[in-house]
Amino acid sequence: MKSVLFSRFFILLPWMLIVIIMLDVDTRRPAPPLTPRPYFSPYAGGRWGARLPLRRGGLGRGREQRNESRPPPPLPPEPPLPTIYAITPTYSRPVQKAELTRLANTFRQVAQLHWILVEDASARSELVSRFLARAGLPSTHLHVPTPRRYKRPGLPRATEQRNAGLAWLRQRHGHQRAQPGVLFFADDDNTYSLELFQEMRTTRKVSVWPVGLVGGRRYERPLVENGKVVGWYTGWRADRPFAIDMAGFAVSLQVILSNPKAVFKRRGSQPGMQESDFLKQITTVEELEPKASNCTKVLVWHTRTEKVNLANEPKYHLDTVTIEV
Ligand code: UGA
Ligand code: MN
Repeated sequence: MKSVLFSRFFILLPWMLIVIIMLDVDTRRPAPPLTPRPYFSPYAGGRWGARLPLRRGGLGRGREQRNESRPPPPLPPEPPLPTIYAITPTYSRPVQKAELTRLANTFRQVAQLHWILVEDASARSELVSRFLARAGLPSTHLHVPTPRRYKRPGLPRATEQRNAGLAWLRQRHGHQRAQPGVLFFADDDNTYSLELFQEMRTTRKVSVWPVGLVGGRRYERPLVENGKVVGWYTGWRADRPFAIDMAGFAVSLQVILSNPKAVFKRRGSQPGMQESDFLKQITTVEELEPKASNCTKVLVWHTRTEKVNLANEPKYHLDTVTIEV
């Protein structure tokens, strides 16, 4: 009896081993996903703004969510991505290259951005020319000096430079139907989140959003009711028609072209009124498009770099090398 059992056991043993090995192999292999996972890379596909890992249309659209073998019908071609034109006035000072470096590092991560850098100078400087050549960004380098009589504390800054940027845009797009585009005034010392560019990219006429660290408060913002701007949260000159900083709005290229006379004005302009004076020429408060979750998120900060201490800088060059800072 024992020997029969033994012989049966030895006959079955190889089969049992085969079954055990197969079960083991099967449990080690990862289960195939029900739906193929879309490929997300931090630098891929971020239409409508920064190159963020967000696909246009999200997961609901396209092949990812389907669980069928038949290929889906081809998607209609996407409309061209509006170009963001960032106009940056800049002037020579010890921190200039550091500011421009921070700005370029941000802009480089934004799809379809054209940087219009306008030097407050009578000629293009070598520092900025060299910098732009290596910045790896589509750019235009302009210059115009601020007349000396306007270089005084308390007077608006960068008026001529922003106008030079506007003139360049109008000249470049003057003879053709405007490509979709959005204009934004990006001072060289502010701090910009990548989300901000996603928000402004969909500007139809003029869009607005909060700005952090400005007007003597933690932030200023447009007050929104039922999707419309109805007032301003601000701690400074609340009587301004548009109580908003230069960093708080964007304008579509079409609006810039269809209002060819809209510019920043020196005559009669008071401190802090540049934004209102300009916006009054192209839009009304009722027309403004609130961005950043109905103006409840700060995506840009009016940071200001402190003046550097160069008290120990020698009068004459002492170092053995000359270094650009
Ligand atoms: C605030 C606003 O945020 C600015 O948009 C506005 O132009 C400015 O006030 C004003 O009073 O006109 P604030 O931080 O006081 O900004 O100004 P800055 O950052 O010193 O200057 C704004 C921009 O103009 C910067 O991009 C700066 O590089 C440029 N700038 C400044 C010049 O091109 N030339 C100058 O002499 C001074
Ligand atoms: Mn500033």
